[in-house]
Amino acid sequence: MAKKETIGSLQSAKGERKLVMITAYDALFASLFQESADMILVGDSLNMTFLGEPDTLSATLEQMIYHTRAVCNGAPESFVVCDMPFGTTHSPHQALDNAVKVFRQTRADAIKIEGGLERAPLIRHLVDNAIAVMGHVGLMPQSVRGEGGYKIKGRDEKSFQKVLDDAVAVAEAGAFALVVEGVTPELGRAVTEAVKIPVIGIGAGADTDGQVLVFSDMLGLFEAFKPKFVKTYLRGAEAVREAVARYAREVREGAFPAEEHIYK
Ligand code: KIV
Repeated sequence: MAKKETIGSLQSAKGERKLVMITAYDALFASLFQESADMILVGDSLNMTFLGEPDTLSATLEQMIYHTRAVCNGAPESFVVCDMPFGTTHSPHQALDNAVKVFRQTRADAIKIEGGLERAPLIRHLVDNAIAVMGHVGLMPQSVRGEGGYKIKGRDEKSFQKVLDDAVAVAEAGAFALVVEGVTPELGRAVTEAVKIPVIGIGAGADTDGQVLVFSDMLGLFEAFKPKFVKTYLRGAEAVREAVARYAREVREGAFPAEEHIYK
């Protein structure tokens, strides 16, 4: 088992080795991921993949705390990041109260906050109060209703510059790392070069300091839609359906349980 990452080890990885982050929402999957991933993100994407909601906006702090506890239990050797859900970091005071709840009720190492320039003072306030913050700029899923859809950034000069300014502001405010999502590869590279902290990309090209994927996407378990940036490493849904169909068939045919499954 590799040694648990720290903010120092993650930051010194920049330019030296690529960082791997994956989401997890429960102890079981987290325990399977901890060996290979440098960081586990308890993303508010769980509201969609775990709860079946159409977007992330209705995720609650209580939900995030519950799942973060599970992930920390399953992967005690992992650096765990808890995503702050929509509506829980709108003022510095509220953000600190809620971040303290996460730190007191889970063993998360850091929180993640979506937002750029406008969130920089709030991030500074959290960092000054001993909360490790990962930023999240570019396409921000919590803005889906405000922006009227999921919009790739960096295709025009204005959005390119805005994301770059956001990234620099969040880094200067003291975030230890940054997720950049849904941007052109040129913007992914520009953000990575503009800040000294590690930049973890998702749909941001190949030149960021690391990558993050939602586990149910990369394991082929979530079939509702597949974004272009997702690579499917397993035909998970197919494998699960086949296994459960075989189990059902064997129960109905009387082939399960067999002798070896019966107490003597
Ligand atoms: O909620 C999530 O899973 C995320 C990743 C997509 C970065 O924020």
